[in-house]
Amino acid sequence: MDDVLERLEQLRKEAEEALAQASTREESEAWYSRYLGRKGAITQVMRTLGKLPPELRPVVGRTANQLKAQLESLLKERQEAIAQAEIEAALSAEGVDVTLPGRPQSVGKLHPTTAILREIYRIFGQMGFQVYDAPEVETDEYNFELLNIPEGHPARDMWDTFYTTTPGLILRTHTSPGQIHAMREYAPEPIRVILPGKCYRHEDVTARSEMMFYQVEGLAVGERITFSDLKGVLVSFAEQMFGEGRRLRFRKSYFPFTEPSVEVDVDCVLCGGKGCRVCKYTGWLEILGAGMVNPVVLKNGGYDPARYTGFAFGMGPERIAMLKYGIDDIRYFYTNDVRFLERVG
Ligand code: DAH
Repeated sequence: MDDVLERLEQLRKEAEEALAQASTREESEAWYSRYLGRKGAITQVMRTLGKLPPELRPVVGRTANQLKAQLESLLKERQEAIAQAEIEAALSAEGVDVTLPGRPQSVGKLHPTTAILREIYRIFGQMGFQVYDAPEVETDEYNFELLNIPEGHPARDMWDTFYTTTPGLILRTHTSPGQIHAMREYAPEPIRVILPGKCYRHEDVTARSEMMFYQVEGLAVGERITFSDLKGVLVSFAEQMFGEGRRLRFRKSYFPFTEPSVEVDVDCVLCGGKGCRVCKYTGWLEILGAGMVNPVVLKNGGYDPARYTGFAFGMGPERIAMLKYGIDDIRYFYTNDVRFLERVG
């Protein structure tokens, strides 16, 4: 009997030591079959019970059962420890270190044209101008005829036009046709509107001209509106857009839809008027065209020119952005190069 009990005691030691060595689930399972499985060492001992003298069987049987139960609970503990260690290993291998600094979010930015447009809306908004949306696909009638540019008029050469396959339907070459839409909607009420949007010209794309670009048209119609009002509005605009103390120059010009017409220059933002490459050594930068609304156009818009007068102007926001930020090529605006978009505006 001592033999069997000793054997069990020996197995206990051996099994406990072996279990302490098991460091994976597989090893713990192998350990189970080695000691407790159907062919395991302890099972084998229990099988020999029948061969022992009857009086010894209870003692040996009890001892063997206790050992089995004890080893089973040790195995359970060991397997839990292994599972816990596996979780910890996985966490530290791929886990989150909450003390690391966060990854910076890339912050979006307004496109330079959008930034300038919003600035334009703000400035004219303060002076009582509302934004009026007009179509980009226009009729020949609105784009030209109603603006006093009849078929065959030499002034049509000022705008190289994209025609559509539908006769009379074109892409607007300027925002001026929006003047007619706004006037026809509100006449004979006084109006103060700006008309922003895309324009299209069939031109060679160069550093100075794109096929698609924005314009912002301005229009004020009412009684007793004079050229001084136009000057006041434009001077205020230039100061807010380019900075206090800017000088403006009004040069006489020609547009079929205004009479008289002017082109307006601001003293060069880069050299302050001394003369540089950007202003081509003139000290001046052209920013817009303007004038008093031609009576023909007022009439086409539904206003009696004997009673109403108005002024209008048209400017290019990309050009304003170029002057303000020192950009020397208009093609940067719509090539979607993020290096440009990130830096400007
Ligand atoms: N429509 C003109 C152009 O595209 C710009 C312009 C000039 C608009 C004078 C006006 C204006 O309203 O009065 O070249």
